[in-house]
Amino acid sequence: MKVLAIMGSPRKIGNTYKMTKMVEESMKSLGEVDFEYIFLKDEGLKMCTGCRVCMDRGEGFCPLKDGRESIEKKIMEADSVIFASPTYVGNVSGLMKNFIDRFAYVCHRPRFFKNAMEITTSAGGGGSFMLLALSIALRTWGFKIVHKVNAIAHEKQDTADAEALKRVNQKKADIAAKKLYAAILLGKQEPGYLEMAQFLLVKKAHMKNKPLSIDYDYWKGNGWYEKDAVYFYDTNAGLFKRYASGILSIFLTIIAK
Ligand SMILES: Cc1cc2nc3c(=O)[nH]c(=O)nc-3n(C[C@H](O)[C@H](O)[C@H](O)COP(=O)(O)O)c2cc1C
Repeated sequence: MKVLAIMGSPRKIGNTYKMTKMVEESMKSLGEVDFEYIFLKDEGLKMCTGCRVCMDRGEGFCPLKDGRESIEKKIMEADSVIFASPTYVGNVSGLMKNFIDRFAYVCHRPRFFKNAMEITTSAGGGGSFMLLALSIALRTWGFKIVHKVNAIAHEKQDTADAEALKRVNQKKADIAAKKLYAAILLGKQEPGYLEMAQFLLVKKAHMKNKPLSIDYDYWKGNGWYEKDAVYFYDTNAGLFKRYASGILSIFLTIIAK
């Protein structure tokens, strides 16, 4: 089992790392798991310049030469990926946001069909907004989000409050570890309503306005324009789930505007 943890804090051994490490240790008590960390702080990914070349011509033409491709390869090779970032003003950190932007082409040509988990730490406000923002990107990339950890971390680690918080966070880490471990054992999972709705939303948008040929060919090549395609891969979703996801996708289209 190979878990890749992509760390978005500028503080390498900060609260978010400690929380992720707790999940790692808890998972290792369940079985053999190999963890690899990518600290975006050390990766030196250049700032997306918004040139759109990755989206319009292909990611291979991105003029920024850095470690993006090798990160994509590592994501492809992992069984599951943890995305961890502190909450910054109700969202992901700048490092994590730039990482997401540098992979914007994957929103157009999804490829990460594997389990993911999100972790955030905050002083107590905005974690859920951060997790929602992150999940929109991850779902569009193809990830199935198996769990989200929203942990509060006090900067003053030696107070009685901090001790109680540590116990709460340990419980959160244990729950997260069990969920991720079980998900990896199961492998590719049934998509949820939201995942299916996001797929259908993009599919319908493509049907309405034909996308650029690079995206069209990619979607067509994967069979995603077929009438019975309701997700990136085969699902056992019954009629009710298919209809409900379709309705949810209409709702998402309205609120996404
Ligand atoms: C620029 C910045 C913005 C922050 N914004 C929030 C916020 O919106 N809500 C919150 O509860 N904490 C906020 N915090 C606190 C951090 O989320 C919190 O301390 C987190 O655990 C830091 O994680 P790290 O040690 O991994 O960097 C902010 C901290 C910084 C530096």
